[in-house]
Amino acid sequence: AIDIRKLRSQTGYITYDPGLANTGSCQSSITFINGEAGVLRYRGYAIEDLVAHSSFVEVSYLLIYGELPTRAQLEQFQDRLTHHSLLHEDMKKFFEGYPPSAHPMSVLSAMVASLSTYYPDSTDPEITELNMIRLLAKLKTIAAFSYKKSIGQPYIYPRNDLSYTADFLHMMFAVPSEPYEVPPLFEKVLDVLLILHADHEQNCSTSTVRMVGSSGADLFAAISAGISALSGPLHGGANQAVIQMLEAIHQDGGNYQKYLAKAKDPNDPFRLMGFGHRVYKNFDPRARLIKKLVDQVFNEMGVHDPLLEIAKKLEEAALQDEYFIERKLYPNIDFYSGILYRAMGIPTNMYTVLFAMGRLPGWIAQWKEMREDPHTRIYRPRQIYQGATHRPYRPLDERE
Ligand code: ACO
Repeated sequence: AIDIRKLRSQTGYITYDPGLANTGSCQSSITFINGEAGVLRYRGYAIEDLVAHSSFVEVSYLLIYGELPTRAQLEQFQDRLTHHSLLHEDMKKFFEGYPPSAHPMSVLSAMVASLSTYYPDSTDPEITELNMIRLLAKLKTIAAFSYKKSIGQPYIYPRNDLSYTADFLHMMFAVPSEPYEVPPLFEKVLDVLLILHADHEQNCSTSTVRMVGSSGADLFAAISAGISALSGPLHGGANQAVIQMLEAIHQDGGNYQKYLAKAKDPNDPFRLMGFGHRVYKNFDPRARLIKKLVDQVFNEMGVHDPLLEIAKKLEEAALQDEYFIERKLYPNIDFYSGILYRAMGIPTNMYTVLFAMGRLPGWIAQWKEMREDPHTRIYRPRQIYQGATHRPYRPLDERE
């Protein structure tokens, strides 16, 4: 076991570790990754098994409470998520204040932060637990409302008779005067995508959730910060960036070789979006599952997407290219997820919001684990100071 007391007393040595690539910031029992072998497990269960047999709600329960639920526990959990899915009516006024061009990720982060004004933190563990349920239940409503606001359509309220995933799709795509049935294929595909995004140990947004939470900040504040961290193009924002890149290649006559060359050019900041990962030095197992799903969905729907053709050619060329082989750069989860969202008619600016919806149970589980861990200390890294040592002060009149 690690002797935390001893570690705490060791001051004086500072490890320089840019991007914290080799720093273990916490002890955790939630997610296991073997980046060399391309293995991902939640609470010990392989994602391949969870995708084949579980729902997103069941996986959320597993991540947060540590065990797969019994039937009775699952039903109760589902009921609670349904019961808490409405937003306070006053919150609708907030949506009205944002410009229609607002990015839904900015709206999501702001709305989650504002939940703490309605549901303040408490030392009562029952309230803390209830806040986790509230957040999980309401995030899909906030996400769908932010989309409806951006296209100027009336909000569609959550429905108690639909599954978590179907309810979200219904709130996104239904309009008041017309009947709308959620296509079962879309419900299934989105549920799998949410499962695959549900946790990924100490990535940038999860570390942000823990860092903000380590000061004692409440759940909503910590997760709002996590959503902001996720929005960046090097993290969750990559799924949107991948589609924008594929569209640009398509408009450029499908010349993917040009983009491959740009990505390899040390003088060009361009990177192949959806490629590379801090931990996976092998195929991202989530990308492998998503790629299989893409083929199934396109066959079943009988549709053709030129962007999918470009993506496949780009992947094939990159996997045979010395630059990518040497650096162990493989497709990550974001490379093919956007192609699926596109096939379901989800607009590009909602892709990262869907990532956040999927990642939410992981963030909640990590925040809970951090709060319950007696070894948690406020995050406070050090630095290697490189500035001037000591300079004599010059009054304003003497400066030129
Ligand atoms: N295209 C071209 N070159 C790349 C790429 C890429 N996508 N990714 C990494 N490289 C190169 C780097 O330039 C570097 O080369 P060098 O050794 O010659 O300098 C080398 O590979 C190592 O890259 P780092 O930046 O050190 O890797 P790091 O672990 O810091 O970054 C990251 C990982 C951010 C994912 C990176 O691979 C990247 O920017 N990928 C594109 C964005 C993306 O897809 N993000 C989604 C990540 S997954 C997620 O968040 C869900």
